[in-house]
Formats: sequence, C-alpha cells, structure tokens
Amino acid sequence: MHIESAEQQALLDQEAHRLYGLLGSVSRAPGAKWTLAQCAQAAYYTLRINQVKKEKNAVILAHSYTTPDLVYGVADFSGDSYALSRKAAETSADIIVFAGVWFMAETAKILNPSKQVIIPAGPAGCTLADAITEEQVRALKAAHPGVPVLCYVNSTAGVKAECDICVTSGNVFDIAAKLPQKELIFVPDLLMARNMEIELQRRGTPKKVIAAGGSCCVHDKYTPEDIAALRRKYPGIKVLVHPECRPEVCAAADYVGSTQGMTAYVAKSADKLFGLLTEQGLVNRLEAEYKDKTFIGAFGICSYMKQNTLSNTMQALLNPSPAQIVELAPDVIERARKSLQNMFEMSR
Ligand code: 13P
Ligand code: SF4
Repeated sequence: MHIESAEQQALLDQEAHRLYGLLGSVSRAPGAKWTLAQCAQAAYYTLRINQVKKEKNAVILAHSYTTPDLVYGVADFSGDSYALSRKAAETSADIIVFAGVWFMAETAKILNPSKQVIIPAGPAGCTLADAITEEQVRALKAAHPGVPVLCYVNSTAGVKAECDICVTSGNVFDIAAKLPQKELIFVPDLLMARNMEIELQRRGTPKKVIAAGGSCCVHDKYTPEDIAALRRKYPGIKVLVHPECRPEVCAAADYVGSTQGMTAYVAKSADKLFGLLTEQGLVNRLEAEYKDKTFIGAFGICSYMKQNTLSNTMQALLNPSPAQIVELAPDVIERARKSLQNMFEMSR
C-alpha cells in the first residue's frame, strides 16, 4: 500500500496494533515473539487483502498450521480439516481462498464445484496425500472385495473418488467404530491405521485395518523420548499429540486428537502448562488465544503449509495464476463428494 495521507497512516497504525494485540504473545522463532514492527509490515497486506476480499465476495479459510499473520490477519475461519470442510460446504461467498495444502483446497472445490477455489501456495503437497495413488486404491479393493474403504482427508480428490468414506483426524476413530464390518481398508496414513487398530481394541470394537500409504513428515519424527524429556524438564506438563504420530508416542501422551481436539482439551483444562507434538502453527494459535497458559512446542514445521504467505494471498486474490486455481473433472467431483457426504452423515 502506498501511504498518501495521514488518514491512511492512522489506519495502518491501528491495524498494526490490532495484530500486535493478537500476535505479541506468539512465537515467531524459538525464543522470539512477534514484534510491533513485524505486525506493522503485515498490516500493509492485511488491510488490502481484507478490502479486496469484501469487493470480490471472497472468503478466506486458513488451516491452523498456516502462519498466524494469515490466521489472525485475514482468515474468516481457521481450524482443522473437518471444521474447514464444513465451512467450505456452507459458504455463500463466490470465491474461496484456501490457505492450506492442495488436498484441502480440492476438498473445498468438491463441495463447491461452481465456485472459484484458489490456493495461494499453488500445488503445495503433503507427504500423506502424495503417498498413494488411485491405481493403488483400486488394486487394494480388487484384492479385498467387499471390505469398506476409508480414506483420510489428507488424500487427493482422485483417491477420495475411489473410497467409500472420507475421515478426518477429528472423527476417524468414531466412524471406524460405527462401521459394522470387522475389517476395513484405510489409506494413506500407516501410523494412523495402527493407532486406529489400538483405539478400536480399547473401545471393545476390534477390527483388522488393511493399510497402505506413508506418514506425515512432521508427526512421524516425534519419539517417546521427546515426551519423556518434556516430563523431566517440566514436571506436571500435559502432553498433547496428533493421531498422525507413532503409536508409541500416542501411548505416552495425555491426549491424542486433531488440532481442534487439542484446542478443546486446552480450553477445558484447568492445567497451565502444555507440551504439543504437532505442527508449530497450532502452538501459535494456542499462544494467541490462551495467554494465561504456557505452550512448549517442538517447532515441527510443515513446509507445505508455510508456502502460504500474506504476499501470495494478496496476489492470488487479485490475479490468481492457473497453478493457484483448483480444477477437477466433474466425475471425480461427483464420486469424491459421496465419500465426503458419507463422512458428514456418519459424524452426526
Ligand atoms: P487436522 O485434521 O487435525 O486439521 O490435521 C490435518 C493435518 O494435515 C495434520 O497434519
Ligand atoms: Fe501433510 Fe503432515 Fe503437512 Fe499435515 S503436517 S499437511 S499431514 S505433511
């Protein structure tokens, strides 16, 4: 923004202070919080983005793993994959800007085929979504006829189109437990598949989970020793982990759940000190929203999520490149939507 008047400068100062009120308690790097000067730089973008957003009747959805200047500066909604897919299904905006990774923007497109869906980061991947192909899912179905196929939301639209029910980290165990079958196929998170078997056994609804795919590059690296070290250094700390972590990490935690689940745990808890083995963006959100509590993160960074910035969000809103616009074949949309609708129905 080019500053032409004292009035514009006053608006910028006001926006910088608004951001600083939210971000002043948030870690930007290990041991360093957001400064007023950094918030003032962000304010140039957030003022303009929020103005263009209104003019274009656009909505900005941001996953909690994106940076806090996006989450608090310009997002209309932020949250976990499930909450964002529900918001995408409900929006009346003409344009959906999805600050997240490609599979999330595809999900928004599947639920809103007639709307323009834009992702500032362009084709940002995900080690899980990239771990399985439609052909591999078809081969699994052929090898196990009649077995229901569940796909984690971290999968491509083409993979969702091959599956019966989509699940997210917030509902995966409940949906798997509700299914009458004793066997199911689950892609593409091998660690979540093992966590699912353990959780279903614990609930008294044991099932065999046939799994294929890979793991999340952020969550797979945590170990039980990370938790032991946190407990040694901070006696009484409550440790929260994501179900994309290894089973032995989940077993050593106080709580296992989605980003939304971890947030709800913190909101309800009388405890003041939390260790979080997940992506740093969630740590930042909790630092911003629960200023009376302390959060120790591991600075796990998803480089795909962090490809969304204020600068490319503004550029994408004004003039998206073809690589930032989600296009999907109508038959893929139709088939993938069934797996999402089945999820919404089974989550009621
Ligand atoms: P949530 O479903 O908790 O939003 O997680 C998505 C994700 O990519 C986790 O790594
Ligand atoms: Fe994918 Fe892991 Fe990044 Fe989530 S944190 S988007 S699962 S790579």
